[in-house]
Amino acid sequence: MNPLLRTVVGLGTGWVASQGVAAVAHLQSGHGQTLAKKLHSRRSFTRNAALGATGIVLAQAGVAFGLLMWPNKTGAFGGELTVGADSIPEVGATPFRHQEGKFYIVRTEDGIEALYWKCVHLGCTVPWIEGDELFICPCHGSVYEYNGSRIAGPATRAMDLMPTEVGEDGSVTVNTSPSALIQRPEYSPDHATPYPFS
Ligand code: FES
Repeated sequence: MNPLLRTVVGLGTGWVASQGVAAVAHLQSGHGQTLAKKLHSRRSFTRNAALGATGIVLAQAGVAFGLLMWPNKTGAFGGELTVGADSIPEVGATPFRHQEGKFYIVRTEDGIEALYWKCVHLGCTVPWIEGDELFICPCHGSVYEYNGSRIAGPATRAMDLMPTEVGEDGSVTVNTSPSALIQRPEYSPDHATPYPFS
């Protein structure tokens, strides 16, 4: 072949080949971008799903925490509980023990008190000891008298009070919310809610 003609043919073949390679590269790059887009959208979906699930879990935990901190229960500890007039003890008689509400109702000449049964020392349940006529904590021996005043032991104050309201029928409604508890160094007559029923 003529050298000049061979050169022209060679240049032409090279150009065609380079265009083919460029076209393939373009196609491959387009395919790569599509694949990358698919992978990206799949990753976005997975990430959004994970964030959504985390958000739901956090929201549920928040609601549970709110209910724990601000209980709005009736008929259970943490809410308002009503004790019928027939369960209110006579003056100085055995305290009425309310299992659900975790309190005792005692009645003195001054009126009634609802005493939270949790020991103010380290939180043990304090029983009323019939015969001794005292509340005596079994854990470290704190002793409280009938009206809740501390007599002895490591406790540093009287038993805590729960707010009470006396109904017209002689029933007593006790607010058992922990946030409503009343702490006092010792008993004072004005801690008792007057109870004008026999
Ligand atoms: Fe009652 Fe310690 S918990 S005396």
